[in-house]
Amino acid sequence: MPSRESVSYFGAGPAPLPTAVLEKASQVLLNYNDCGIGITEISHRSADAENILKDTKSALAQLLDIPTQEGPDGYKIIFLQGGGSGEFSASVYHMTALWVEKRRLEIVKELGSEDDTKVFEALRKAVDEEFKLDYLVTGSWSLKASQEAARLVGANHVNVAIDSRKSNNGKFGTIPDESKWSLTPNPAHSGMVYFCDNETVDGVEFPAFPKVDADEYNIIADMSSNFLSRKVDVKKYAAIFGGAQKNVGTTGITIAIIKNSLLTQLAKPDLLRKLNLPVGPVVLDWPTIAKNNSLYNTLPIFDVWIAGQVMQSLLSKATSSSGPKIATQQAESEHKAALLYGVLDKYSVFNVVPDKSVRSKMNICFRIGGESDRDDKEKKFLAGANERLLMGCKGHRSVGGCRISNYNAVSVEKVEKLAKWLEEFAQQQQ
Ligand SMILES: Cc1ncc(COP(=O)(O)O)c(C=O)c1O
Repeated sequence: MPSRESVSYFGAGPAPLPTAVLEKASQVLLNYNDCGIGITEISHRSADAENILKDTKSALAQLLDIPTQEGPDGYKIIFLQGGGSGEFSASVYHMTALWVEKRRLEIVKELGSEDDTKVFEALRKAVDEEFKLDYLVTGSWSLKASQEAARLVGANHVNVAIDSRKSNNGKFGTIPDESKWSLTPNPAHSGMVYFCDNETVDGVEFPAFPKVDADEYNIIADMSSNFLSRKVDVKKYAAIFGGAQKNVGTTGITIAIIKNSLLTQLAKPDLLRKLNLPVGPVVLDWPTIAKNNSLYNTLPIFDVWIAGQVMQSLLSKATSSSGPKIATQQAESEHKAALLYGVLDKYSVFNVVPDKSVRSKMNICFRIGGESDRDDKEKKFLAGANERLLMGCKGHRSVGGCRISNYNAVSVEKVEKLAKWLEEFAQQQQ
């Protein structure tokens, strides 16, 4: 039986966690804080649980330099359940209700009257003619999010501002230049611009914040698979979310960072129903979760604790006293990715799937060989990797080939081992 130390695991998620965190976890499962009961047994409303929440939020705020002050420009950190997929829906419910209420108030002002019938008719017309949610579809996860939006509000309200497959032979792997995007031209008609910062399946990552005016549009990003891997200018986002199970912790919680100005008056459920717009479940309702310090219902505090421990370990690695503390981890992620792409680019037997300009630093997708010998070569590579205990390198079934996930808990040493096998394999092919 292989030991934990001897295995290098590159799975896309759930993903490896730091061994020291898991060792401590095994103790706190039995006895948390010397109180004689384990962490999964304590109340989510206990002082211990509140402290875990407070410490985890504080660590996250330090890592990403999140402005957490009260007032419209501050942000709330909340923990939810339902995964990244839950937030595909939550973002639609929330941004729809926010847009409708904003437009209703404008209409009341324009008409100079609160007459319910007149306001409602004008609002219904505005929804029908104006309301859009913009999606940048650059991979399988943003595609899924846009499909969920269409399911909830109707395809007529979803504007796919870019579908990168259209300019890349039907496959994901590029992010076309911003000049080719067709965002809803009037930002006042757009409920949000949604994108996935790192496409886990396709290995495509936005190299920088998209060139969209963040003062005009509400920008929402799914960072499930590159959360805490690099610096983020939080102030540009209306909201950021990510499932914890890749870079941050165990499966079970989703972290969302939401601008206070979004947590304001929303359209009432009765009005949304009359407008044939959806009303979301309360457990996905951002204001409800924020108002209750993420404790509206039973939160898996153990998962929050794990995330907090992972964040503390990232903080303890931070070397710079100024700026976001995640900078140290970013440098390490870039170094590990460069090691892998370096070998992949050196040998023609390897073909990295996405375009060089948008290659992910977290999920490195590549094929081996050409049309005729691909299956054979990829099988050999993966078998050799498994023999060397370099596990989890098989690509997603929709892309095929190989995928190396380079999350934070994968050490430089383990990446070096894999780079060595890539090199050795390529030389065998020559
Ligand atoms: C980028 C991205 N978004 C969303 C999801 C969906 O997350 P969940 O399975 O937590 O719903 C995933 C899952 O791998 C993902 O990689």
